[in-house]
Amino acid sequence: MIAYWQHSRLRDRLHAWRDRLLADPRFHRIATRFPLTRPVARKRSAELFDLCAGFIYSQVLLATLRSGLLDALAKGPQEAEKLLQAADLQPEPGQRLIDAAVALRLLEHRSKGRYGLGDLGAVLVAAPGIRAMIEHHSVLYRDLEDPLMLLRGDRGDTGLARYWGYAGNPQPDQLGAESVAPYSSLMAASQPMVATEVLDAYSLRSYRVLMDVGGGDGAFLMAAADRWPHLRGISVDLPAVAERAQQHFTESGRGDRLSACGADFFRDPLPGEADIVTLVRILHDHDDEDVRQLLGNLQRSLRPGTTVLVAEPMAGVRGAERVGDAYFGIYLHAMGRGRPRTPAENRELLEASGFESIRLLPGRNPLFARVIAAKSRSLSV
Ligand SMILES: C[S@@+](CC[C@H](N)C(=O)[O-])C[C@H]1O[C@@H](n2cnc3c(N)ncnc32)[C@H](O)[C@@H]1O
Repeated sequence: MIAYWQHSRLRDRLHAWRDRLLADPRFHRIATRFPLTRPVARKRSAELFDLCAGFIYSQVLLATLRSGLLDALAKGPQEAEKLLQAADLQPEPGQRLIDAAVALRLLEHRSKGRYGLGDLGAVLVAAPGIRAMIEHHSVLYRDLEDPLMLLRGDRGDTGLARYWGYAGNPQPDQLGAESVAPYSSLMAASQPMVATEVLDAYSLRSYRVLMDVGGGDGAFLMAAADRWPHLRGISVDLPAVAERAQQHFTESGRGDRLSACGADFFRDPLPGEADIVTLVRILHDHDDEDVRQLLGNLQRSLRPGTTVLVAEPMAGVRGAERVGDAYFGIYLHAMGRGRPRTPAENRELLEASGFESIRLLPGRNPLFARVIAAKSRSLSV
């Protein structure tokens, strides 16, 4: 204990020394001239500049996408003139957008003065989930115009809270088809990356029935059923969302194995026949008290020893701090409900609701999700 305390004091002093050094203009001059420190100094300046300019990059990304430049170049390289005509952009401002997009590796110079997709642009044209995310960020962008006002004000009066109609809504089960459509489509578009992460982290071979709680349009359940052809599935979501899922199951020919059930997962009894339950991108949407209510409802509805998987991007995860702590921290604040939790905080909430055998599973890409496995209480009390 003493050794740990001394170690922390030493670390604090080292950090204080480093901070003084980095804030000293003389040190900067020396660091940028000296060949051994120059690469580090340059890298740090570039990182700082990226932080300052990030909002411009995001808007260049949005403009490149919305103008149709990326889709046009997905068909093959083109000259700027034709590209800009199709995008309804004048030559001078249009060329600025092209140059900016080239600088951000969305586009690339090709032979004979033409342009093609850059390496990041090529990924984007094949990633409907990321495209949908970029589009809906325009709502958050407006909410973030004055970030301190957002952080000091009452949570909930934002464009993002209106977008996610269930956030802070005392009667979410009354939401109509039009209110749930935009967020349900967004979730379905971004689900494949998450589903792969979850299904790679945990095998469903030995399970019969999967219940996906807050299953949205049913995209995760369909991915699970395709990976494990013996599996049956139930998606539980608000009535208007469950209707969409049922339609997808029927239209895609999976209606014999998958079904959807409309319910308020805080209050309504949930179907109890599942031997595995998933909560994908659900808990972080809700404040602690609501999470306790949801987990308590699950505990009452499930048979003892049912496996539960909690999967979402989490806070404090090495290598995913920007997603967990910066992105979701601010995003969920603007949404008006919930917070990104560390694996340990999720464990505490599960434990407090009586879940057992809780363990964090190894994963491939924490940007999409970390997965925690647990079991419902083995003996009913
Ligand atoms: C962030 S989305 C995640 C959807 C899906 N699990 C996924 O990862 O794509 C949260 C889902 O929870 C559902 N939801 C929110 N509050 C609910 C409630 N009280 N009862 C049932 N479902 C609810 C929403 O309709 C939405 O589909």
